[in-house]
Order: sequence, then structure tokens, then C-alpha cells
Amino acid sequence: MDKIVIEGGVPLQGQVEISGAKNAILPVLACTLLTSGKNKICGVPRVRDVNTMIRLLEKFGAVVDEFKDDCLVIDTSGVNNFRAPYDLVSTMRASCLVMGPLLARLGQSVVSLPGGCAIGARPIDLHLKGFEALGATIDLEKGYVHGVVKKFRGASIYFDTVTVTGTANLMMAAVLAEGETVLENSAREPEVTFLADVLNQAGAKITGHGTDVIRIKGVSALNPLDCKIFPDRIELGTYMIAAAITGGDVEILNCNPQHVQPLVRKLRQVGVQIETEQENIRVKSNGCLRSAEIQTLPYPGFPTDLQAQFMALMTVAKGQSIIRETVFENRFMHVAELRRMGADISVDGHTAIISGIEGLSGAPLMATDLRASASLVLAALAAKGESVISRVYHIDRGYEMMEKKMSQLGAKIRRVK
Ligand code: EPZ
Repeated sequence: MDKIVIEGGVPLQGQVEISGAKNAILPVLACTLLTSGKNKICGVPRVRDVNTMIRLLEKFGAVVDEFKDDCLVIDTSGVNNFRAPYDLVSTMRASCLVMGPLLARLGQSVVSLPGGCAIGARPIDLHLKGFEALGATIDLEKGYVHGVVKKFRGASIYFDTVTVTGTANLMMAAVLAEGETVLENSAREPEVTFLADVLNQAGAKITGHGTDVIRIKGVSALNPLDCKIFPDRIELGTYMIAAAITGGDVEILNCNPQHVQPLVRKLRQVGVQIETEQENIRVKSNGCLRSAEIQTLPYPGFPTDLQAQFMALMTVAKGQSIIRETVFENRFMHVAELRRMGADISVDGHTAIISGIEGLSGAPLMATDLRASASLVLAALAAKGESVISRVYHIDRGYEMMEKKMSQLGAKIRRVK
């Protein structure tokens, strides 16, 4: 298995460009199942989760052409299968996003139940309850969710917990339903708002997206999609923190500063200089950082997907920082690895207390999930000496060409096959 080797201590300098958003492309790929024709999607990041979703669509009978630049053409006119096998779903939880579109299009879906993952149990009960409210029959058999529905009927659905893919799944299920559906306590993440815009462009009737109440008037059919994925806000946040933790000066291109306002505020609070323009952000730090307190929340709160990276930054900040993780119940897997680098972190339930130290030391490290592995890369870039990170397949799931982009900024980073 590949490893990444990093010689730390180099302040990052220069420009880097952000790729398309992983958590936006996955539901958009799934929603091509709602159309019957040639869908064109550009700005597609070449990350492993995209390959997994493409293989899933091909299993259902879609024809996916080779990449042309960063564009994909997906012909869904021949979709006729509704079974999503365990071997694919178990590698990517977001596979559950095909349930709504398959049920809406074919009236049936048999999708392996995604198991738990490193960051929490992550049930999909709210997705399934929503499909039942729209008239589907849902059964669990031998680890597979079997769904059947003649035709979805509009309904009012209240989410007990804000769920991003739950909102996306029900929105996709409701666009071809009879009548109107109202989704309350919906997710307001940019990935959900973007999905609604893409569906509306294809002929859907969705309003209220971006607020916590989304209304969907069912239509009889959608036109094939033609869209461009917006830049990844979590990749953006990761490179902003990379510049800050190495005491660097980095200009980040092709990004949307609006999407990372909570991080911009926190970085300025701890002493990092940030200049924002329409689609670029410049991050400059002299490496002297102050401590801070953050709490992860659904959008527009501080994103849980940047919690691990921000913790890495606070390990070398002056004073004591407090990080509360409120979205997932087990998202401190990176703590033990950061401690191996000398970090001083204590954990009590969902709260981590970080006492800043002078500097981290390089060490052999183990990645456990996508964002935890990103935080280890950032810590290793700041550390004295060499770090070797194993299980980097986690990184490949959601970061396009991370070593190449970091080397471009002067990092001493290489992949060992
Ligand atoms: C999405 O996951 C993202 N994944 C995650 O990013 C992100 O961390 C998460 O939203 C929160 O922002 C994709 O978009 C593909 P949730 P999702 O449903 O939709 C509970 C990354 O690193 N819940 O919003 O699966 C759940 O257990 C990934 O890119 C239920 O209890 O997250 C969690 O505690 C990691 N029942 C909370 O809600 C349900 O049916 C929020 O989860 C659904 C969710």
C-alpha cells in the first residue's frame, strides 16, 4: 500500500488551484439516474469516490464516456438495474444516494446497507423514514435495503437531525413524485443548494434550498443535466490551514471564499492574515498562532470536515484551545496520531483540549479516515524531521493530486509505492 513521506519545516509559498467539490459531484452523479439521456458534467475531480460512483452507475446500465479534460458524459437512457452490491457500497457510504433516484425512476432499489465508519455509526434511518413517508415500502434483508414504490406521493417530512445526504436523497426522490413535498430541518450545505439548482436547470420545481425548509413540486420528467461542479470548500480549507501551519504565503485560486467564512474568521482570530477576492484567497502567516475555541455545526457553522485539520493547527498555537465535535460521535481518531508527533491533547467525550507546544516532531503515522489523514499531512508539513503516513488511500478518496499540489507550493512530499 502506498505511503506518503514528508520532510517538514518548509513554509509553503506560491499558488494552488482548487478542484471540483467531492461532496457536490457524488449526488449530482446519482441524480443522472433521474434523467434518460446524455448528461454532461464538468469540473469533475479525479478522486477515488468519483470512480466508485461511476462503477455503480455502470452497474445500473449507464454508459460513462472517458474523461475529456474535467468533463464526463453519462448516458442513462439504458438504466434498467437497481441493485447496488456490498463490495461497492462498503467502500463509499455516499453510495446510498442512488436509493432516491432508483426508486423514483424504476420503482425499486436493492442497495447494500452502508456499515458504520471510523467517524461514527452513521445510520441512514432518516433517509428510509423519508422514503416511507413518500409511499415506499422499505425492508432490510441480508444486509440489503429493499425498496419498492409504485410512484412516490408528495408528503411533509421533518428531519430529526440535519442530514446532508438525507436531504439530497429525499429531494431527488421527490422531484418526480405526485404532488408537493416539504422537507423541514433540511441541510443548508452548498452541496445541497447546488444539487437543487442543477435539478431546477433540468426542469425540476424546487424552492427554499439554502434554507431549512425545502419545497419540491413533482414534475413528470427531467431533461439531461448540463452543469459544472463548484470548487471544493473542504479542499480549500485544507490548503488555507496548510499555509497557516507552515508559516507560509499561499494564493489559492478557483475557490469560493463565501463557503469558508467560519474558517476565515477563526484563522484571523488566531493571527493569520487572509485576503479574499471573488474567486481567490491569499493566506499569509508568520507561524505565530494564538489558541482558539471552535464547535462543529451543520452549515453555515464550522464544518466537521475541517475539524481535524484545525486541530493540527492548534497543536502549535500558544495557549489552550477547545474543540467540540457535535456532528459525529467518534471524530477524534487523529488525536492519537498527533500525540505521536508530540502534541498535547486531552479528550473528554466530544470535547478535545489542545495545549499548544513549540513544535511537532516527524513520526510514522497511520491514516484512519479522509479528513484525519489530511490533518496528519498538515502536521507533518509543520513538523521537524520526516514523517511517513500509511493507508493514504483515504486521502485519494477526496483529494485530487495532493502531493503534486503540495510540491508545487514547495513542500518536500513524495509518495512511496
Ligand atoms: C455528509 O455526510 C458528507 N458526505 C460528510 O463528509 C460530512 O462530514 C457530513 O455530511 C456532515 O457535514 C458527503 O456529502 C458524501 P449527515 P452525511 O447525514 O450526509 C446523523 C467527508 O469527509 N444521521 O449530515 O453522511 C449522522 O450519524 C465526509 O467528505 C442519522 O442519525 O452526514 C451524523 O451524526 C465525511 N440518521 C449526523 O446525522 C440519518 O439517517 C449528520 O450526518 C442520517 C444522518
